[in-house]
Amino acid sequence: MQATKIQLDEKQMPTQWYNILADLPFQMPPVLHPATGKPVVPDDLAPIFPMELIKQEMSPERWIDIPEEVQDVYRLWRPTPLYRARRWEKALDTPAKIYYKWEGVSPPGSHKPNTAVAQAYFNKQEGVKRITTETGAGQWGSALAFGCDLFGIECKVYMVRVSYEQKPYRRIMMETWGAKCVPSPSPDTKAGQAVLAQDPDTPGSLGIAISEAVEDAATHDDTKYSLGSVLNHVLLHQTVVGLEAKKQLEIAGDYPDILVGCIGGGSNFAGFFLPFVKDKLDGKPLRIICAEPQACPTLTKAPYAYDFGDVAGLTPLLKMYTLGHTFVPPPIHAGGLRYHGMAPIICALYNHKIIEAVALHQMAVFDAAISFARTEGFIVAPETAHAVKVVMDEALKCKESGEAKTIVFNNSGHGHFDLAAYEAYFAGKLKDYTYPEEKIKEALKDLPKV
Ligand SMILES: Cc1ncc(COP(=O)(O)O)c(C=O)c1O
Repeated sequence: MQATKIQLDEKQMPTQWYNILADLPFQMPPVLHPATGKPVVPDDLAPIFPMELIKQEMSPERWIDIPEEVQDVYRLWRPTPLYRARRWEKALDTPAKIYYKWEGVSPPGSHKPNTAVAQAYFNKQEGVKRITTETGAGQWGSALAFGCDLFGIECKVYMVRVSYEQKPYRRIMMETWGAKCVPSPSPDTKAGQAVLAQDPDTPGSLGIAISEAVEDAATHDDTKYSLGSVLNHVLLHQTVVGLEAKKQLEIAGDYPDILVGCIGGGSNFAGFFLPFVKDKLDGKPLRIICAEPQACPTLTKAPYAYDFGDVAGLTPLLKMYTLGHTFVPPPIHAGGLRYHGMAPIICALYNHKIIEAVALHQMAVFDAAISFARTEGFIVAPETAHAVKVVMDEALKCKESGEAKTIVFNNSGHGHFDLAAYEAYFAGKLKDYTYPEEKIKEALKDLPKV
């Protein structure tokens, strides 16, 4: 019998997160204070984040202990299974071996609670009563609602309006875990009011929602802000995914030739591939491919520059590939990939040509997701479907060349609350958006001078 799933025992779950900053062969560009232009120090971030997370953000330590209370919650769904996609391989008639790490088994349905639970825990330790955040597709908002609920913290989620309207069930999940969720831009903050005054019909964007959540936290003493992607500590918490996958591949007796993942702010894929990067730096011939949307092509089309993480310019300045913090991406169904910037760690690795990127149109992405669903069964999130498309292309290249490469991807979440996107696809209503060149040019004019 050939194994379909490679499972780890609960005792084999990682007890430490892996910090890539200890192993990078270059210095990361500093994060800059938006007012002074000088590198930020921990106290600058203290109004919006708890100190333990600030320390993790800047830590040079290679390994950081996962608190027992966080491990205890992780055990509700971790370790997650690694699958061999034998049925899909057969359907694609490829000699490639395809594996996927399945993060859709968490209660909210994606990788996001790996950091949501940790962030809620560290906030609770420092006496924080209330947390605000933004969410795109609603995966992150529901994950944080879940994490906050388990540690008894109030949670308010600013949800990008286009997703709020497309995905009412995600809001209901957040409410089930006791959180409050409002469409963004909202009239509840100055940042939201300003955008609504300019364009009352805006679909919203992650950049706008971040401004609202940061403003809310900065203006309430009992409240901190939580970010679901981009920052170093978020990527750090996600490394449980890659650490488990590495062990599981060892059990399978395989090592990847190609790693694939989708990137919105970069957290799921970084968490998956960072534990393999050191091997690549040490000479392993490993390709690491990031999948992003053509409608929001951050790595493939944007300049590498300092920019704000949000529309209103409240966050510190990060050196990243950026389409401009005022860019509002077209309303593709992969709401979690509609972000103008990218995790600085991913950007630095891309800039040093250690990882690659591909930009995709959503029609082709859904074609691939349906091929996957009809063989493996799982209906993946529209974000994840971007990775599925790249894997399919690479597997078909193997078919042509006859090479039996090992391709492993991070299956970051299920699409059970994204079925409206699948319905639009079947009804022939899904459309591709051309690369929004003019809008990006406009937004790049607003890059801060550094
Ligand atoms: C299932 C899923 N995958 C991927 C992403 C993209 O985010 P990140 O790049 O931080 O993993 C999201 C974001 O909402 C998501 O919900």
